[in-house]
Amino acid sequence: MTLTFDVHGPTLTGALARLASIGFSEAGVCRRLGLEDLDDLQLRAIPIYRQERLQERDALAAAIELLLLQGAVPEAELDQLFARPDQEALADAGILQQADGSVRALASLYPVGRALVFSDHAWPQMNQTGYATVPRDQVMGIGTDSRWLARATLRRPVGSALDLCCGSGVHALLAAAHAGQATAVDCNPRAARCSAFNAKAAGLANLETLQGDLYAPLGDRRFGLITCNPPFVPAPAQEVGYRDGGRSGEEIQRRVVAGLPLHLAEGGTAQLVTELGERDGEPLEDRLRTWLDGAPMAIHILRLRTIPAQAYAIGHGDGDAYADFLDSVGRWAANLRAQGYRRMVSVLLTFQWSREPWTRVDQAHPPVRDAGPELEALLAAERLARDPGLEDRLRAGRVVRTGPVALLESRSLGAPAPATAQARLAGLAMPIEHPLTAMERDLLCCLDGPAATADLLAAAAKAGVADRMVLDALAALVRKGLVGPA
Ligand SMILES: C[S@@+](CC[C@H](N)C(=O)[O-])C[C@H]1O[C@@H](n2cnc3c(N)ncnc32)[C@H](O)[C@@H]1O
Repeated sequence: MTLTFDVHGPTLTGALARLASIGFSEAGVCRRLGLEDLDDLQLRAIPIYRQERLQERDALAAAIELLLLQGAVPEAELDQLFARPDQEALADAGILQQADGSVRALASLYPVGRALVFSDHAWPQMNQTGYATVPRDQVMGIGTDSRWLARATLRRPVGSALDLCCGSGVHALLAAAHAGQATAVDCNPRAARCSAFNAKAAGLANLETLQGDLYAPLGDRRFGLITCNPPFVPAPAQEVGYRDGGRSGEEIQRRVVAGLPLHLAEGGTAQLVTELGERDGEPLEDRLRTWLDGAPMAIHILRLRTIPAQAYAIGHGDGDAYADFLDSVGRWAANLRAQGYRRMVSVLLTFQWSREPWTRVDQAHPPVRDAGPELEALLAAERLARDPGLEDRLRAGRVVRTGPVALLESRSLGAPAPATAQARLAGLAMPIEHPLTAMERDLLCCLDGPAATADLLAAAAKAGVADRMVLDALAALVRKGLVGPA
């Protein structure tokens, strides 16, 4: 039995506040279960959590068991967890089901950033006789991709925010905290109800949910922030509604990108988390430009993870019998071959209007906590590097490293081959690895404090290095966000 997500149910602000007060948050649950990231929560580890982490029964243990591990708790523990009015509100909302002296939840509650988000259980097969596969109308729980997008979203105040392919409504819920009005859209009626249910539960008056196909329910409305985690998996057959994006994986995401010029407000930002199949010799940016059909937009591609096509096929193969599993892997691999995909790349895409459209590609570690300000700083560095006045400003002023920098160098000992170097700003939530030229490395190393560019040029001239090389290297470091005007 699943939850209908009755949108006429009560607000659950009391129950949600109680959960927050006992540490039912990303950090609190991780601490309790011994996880580095809530994304590491695994079905197969449930017995270990129970035996090693939840033996001491307190309110947090009961909340984790009930709302994340899909387990049952005795009524006495529920009394410890929630006061009677909150229990009644949760029961009226259809969340709690009591039987034989114990209680189960018909949905899970996922901590994401500052929000608590109801959605269908992460493991629908568990305790649901007859669910051999994921049901068609399943609302996606909070996945790795959901967390990446939530953590990387730019949290500027905006008038209006749109969350396309909203599922549980997680991104709309988070946007409602910094947008005048948030709008969530999903084609799955259960997902649309789940998003509205979450808004009601959290007592949010500025979140509307619409059911429909992408931008269709929106007319010509424009938004200051558009977030989207579309179905993107290139699947041999359309099996999981929230996951599969047709045989190419692009059926929905292509239309999302193509619609941006009609729905992104001036000065606004659109952010997508997705996967793209990569073909040899075809840069991903070419595909995105084709989808944008000439619209003057800046595109930032942040590559977060790359999986070879074969490993991707194996990861998606299924079947209980080994022969069925191998058949399934064969079908997935054949589809990826037919598409010409050599690798699947997880990317975070950012689009902004720009008179002079540019494309930038970076390689980052997936965000482990809120990384919006870091992405904001990177986009600002790109704009600064493109400013025609930058060179004069650099020549006349002083430069400094923008923060503590971690430098990684490799050289073959005893060989004359030059060293290669990479640098990243230390301590970031989403560190970006920047390859460095030898000149960039040398400049970065000598900038222990603010330095006048004129002094750097004079020292370089003594060593026979031309101004042009130094200025170009400085501009490259500015663009990488490693150095800025002091
Ligand atoms: C990968 S899930 C993302 C859910 C949620 N945004 C998150 O990040 O956790 C993709 C969602 O897109 C929805 N979807 C698929 N095709 C759609 C379409 N044509 N229009 C609107 N939503 C669609 C699915 O129902 C599903 O809820």
